[in-house]
This record gives sequence, C-alpha cells and structure tokens, in this order.
Amino acid sequence: MFLVTGATGKTGGQTVKHLLAKGAPVRAIVRNEEKAAPLKEQGVELVVGDIGDTDAVAKALDGVDGVLLTLPNGPNQLDWELGILKQAEAAGVKHLVYMSSTESNADNPRRIPQVHWKVVEAIQASSLNWTIMRPNFFMQGIFPFAGQVKANDAFSFPAGDGTASMCDVRDVGEVAAIILTGGETHYGKTYDLTGPDIVSFHDVASLLSKALGRDITYKPMPLQAFHDYLAKVLKSDWHVEGVVELMQEMSEEGGLDFTTDTMGELLGRPPVSLAQFVEEHKAMYGA
Ligand SMILES: NC(=O)c1ccc[n+]([C@@H]2O[C@H](COP(=O)([O-])OP(=O)(O)OC[C@H]3O[C@@H](n4cnc5c(N)ncnc54)[C@H](OP(=O)(O)O)[C@@H]3O)[C@@H](O)[C@H]2O)c1
Repeated sequence: MFLVTGATGKTGGQTVKHLLAKGAPVRAIVRNEEKAAPLKEQGVELVVGDIGDTDAVAKALDGVDGVLLTLPNGPNQLDWELGILKQAEAAGVKHLVYMSSTESNADNPRRIPQVHWKVVEAIQASSLNWTIMRPNFFMQGIFPFAGQVKANDAFSFPAGDGTASMCDVRDVGEVAAIILTGGETHYGKTYDLTGPDIVSFHDVASLLSKALGRDITYKPMPLQAFHDYLAKVLKSDWHVEGVVELMQEMSEEGGLDFTTDTMGELLGRPPVSLAQFVEEHKAMYGA
C-alpha cells in the first residue's frame, strides 16, 4: 500500500494517477472528502482528516510500504512534515519519498528552501529508507496568467529576466510513482528534476505568441506589487514573504537555471518541454 499526501493537489494528484495506472494500491489522507470523491471513484482508499491530526495520520500510515510526502508551503509545513516523518518511522514504513525543491540547500536562508532542508536533514538522520525529489519551477505556474493573456495579449509576472529549467508536474508525478514502485533501487538517492530547457518568461511570451499566432507581451511585475497582491490572496504573512523570496531569487540571483538528465532517465523518455506544454494548453490562453 502506498500513501500519498496532498493527493488532491498538483503533484500528489499526478502521483496517484500513475500509481493507479501501475495497478498499485493507493491510500490518500485528505481533509475534504467531497473534493476527494473522484479519487475514491478511481479506487483510492481515503482517510479523511487534517494532516496536523496525529490520529488521522496514524490511521493513514497503518500497513503502508511507501509514502509520498508533499505538502503546500506555509507556516505549519515544517512541523507537519517532521511529525509525519516521526510517525512513519514508528509505523514501520519502508520507504519515504519526499518532495523538496531545486533551490533548497544548507546555505539558502530563504524560509521555504529552509523548511525543505530541515526536513531532508531529519529524513536522512532517520531509520527510514528515503528518496528526495528536488523539482524545478513547475510549468503549471504559467496557468494563473491565462486570463490576462486571453483578455490583453499580455501578462505580468514577478520573474524579471530570471530563468529556470521549468518542469511539468505530470512528469514529476510520474517520476514519484516510478520511485515508489521501484523501491530499493531508489533508496538513499536525491534527484534534481528539471525540464529539458532553461527558459525565461520572455521565452514564455515568445512560445505563447507562436502557439497563439498573435503577439503576447511579458511585463515584469515589481516584487513589491507582487507582495501586495499576495497579501490579499494568501492566508499567512509567512507564506507571502516565502513566495516573494523565491521570486526574488529567481529574478535577481538565478539558482534555478541548470538542467539535469535525471527526469528523462527516470521516465525512460524525454521530459515535456515548455514548447510542448504551451502548445498543449494554448486553448486556455484564447487560441
Ligand atoms: N510550485 C513549484 O514550482 C514547486 C517547485 C518545486 C517544489 N515545489 C514544492 O511542492 C510542494 C507543493 O506541492 P503541490 O504544488 O503539488 O501542492 P498543491 O497543488 O498546492 O496541493 C497541496 C495539497 O496539500 C493538501 N493539504 C493542504 N493542507 C492540508 C491539510 N491541512 N490537511 C490535509 N491536506 C492538506 C491540499 O488539499 P486541499 O485540496 O484540500 O487543499 C492539496 O491536496 C511544496 O512543498 C513546494 O515547495 C513547488
């Protein structure tokens, strides 16, 4: 049995899809039973409860061989993830697959990379078999400005001239399923997962222009304006500051601008390129 956290989210959802396609038994811990109903229909066993509820987590971990641990960024992320790690050890889980991110390392002081780093250190010091996934910026991050492109043939985003080797969450989820079902081949491994190309948001605009057959303009958004926008839509200051820090790193310092062959090696096929991704999703931008 495999337990997937965040199963109604981007990476968890894709991981579930690929585990089911492999015929693997899947359990998910979800806080919203209604939202998770499609998972149940596909044969996923649901444990309904908040990820901070240790009783629900214990129930979810019972009899589990492998866990994908991926949770959203926020002020509780560190405590939740460290708590699940301890409970997974106590429950005798064989393999913990943890989703960190490319920019997380001991020397990166930003709060979200630090959460991932502290959890990775705790995982590596635990008695569990582990695999660490470190994906780059998700291509799905270009979805939120689809409405702007459709309405104005332009979009703003706080990435400046920064670049990243963006990757498709569908590939990341498929890799997670491969790692979980592959077991000991992947024990003790850390995988930096990138897309095939280093791209900027100027490139995003060019690719959208090509796919849509009309000129699309990228207007870099000042970080302060992004901060003010996030403050209206996110629940905690911690999360607002954390996301702004990440965009500052991407726009001003690089750090996401390298590629590896790892994703393709694990998938056994080339990872999705941004050009393919844009072409596939062009309808939402008003093609
Ligand atoms: N975005 C990027 O470019 C990027 C790149 C590399 C790594 N990452 C890392 O990816 C992780 C986020 O993954 P994601 O984007 O796949 O997440 P996501 O789409 O935001 O999904 C989050 C999931 O967690 C669930 N959840 C949230 N709070 C919960 C709670 N209290 N109890 C139970 N479940 C709860 C959500 O459930 P509901 O559906 O009920 O809300 C949802 O299923 C972060 O750690 C981030 O650092 C992100």
